[in-house]
Amino acid sequence: MSHKIARVITIDGLASSGKTSISKKLSEKLGYYFLDSGILYRSVAYICLTESLEKNTNLLINNLENNLEVVADKKKHYEVNYRGSDISEHLYNEEIGIYASIVSQKSEIREYLMKLQHNCVKLPGLVANGRDMGSKVFPDADFKLFITAELAVRAERRFKQLTVAGTEASLEKITSQLAERDKNDKNRKISPLIAPTGSIEIDSSHLNVDRILDKILELYKI
Ligand code: DC
Repeated sequence: MSHKIARVITIDGLASSGKTSISKKLSEKLGYYFLDSGILYRSVAYICLTESLEKNTNLLINNLENNLEVVADKKKHYEVNYRGSDISEHLYNEEIGIYASIVSQKSEIREYLMKLQHNCVKLPGLVANGRDMGSKVFPDADFKLFITAELAVRAERRFKQLTVAGTEASLEKITSQLAERDKNDKNRKISPLIAPTGSIEIDSSHLNVDRILDKILELYKI
């Protein structure tokens, strides 16, 4: 009997670099599971704020251990449930993004989430995106990508996403919020955003998702 091992592809990059759209499409193309690890940090930030646990990391982790679940949907996309409910709709605003970038600096939280992320590896494989997927969480991944894009391009993308969703947004404010998050994520002591050893770098500033996907599929040969 052949013993199959699940493949892992990591896609790291800055906020709004395009990594999530790329990861999602790549996972669907390959039939792999998909994890956007940012939603885990965003969930922790959201729960911390709604339960007023900012000052008590031990209680926060205890609460997460009892109430937070990471489950795959029919499309093999991992989602987060808190107390049995899907909390996705509360996670995608820039305030939660910034607070996620702050809670993500705590080693206890990173360690707790490390286990959850490892549990997401399932046959035939996983595409995981974030800031430290290739450097810390899955250092032995089969294939590692690092996606970059200019700040102005990323801010414009985020602005469009928000206005299309009917949310009022200011390009100037988004640019400064993204710059603040870049600074936090690159300069924090634990697991800062870096191009992981052995990763292939793709600048997505002037390429659309489908073009990038073609490029990745050319490079990823099992
Ligand atoms: O990818 P995102 O914008 O949804 O991530 C939100 C924040 O979560 C990000 O600014 C830093 C943190 N994060 C992290 O520290 N490590 C990851 N692997 C993913 C996200």
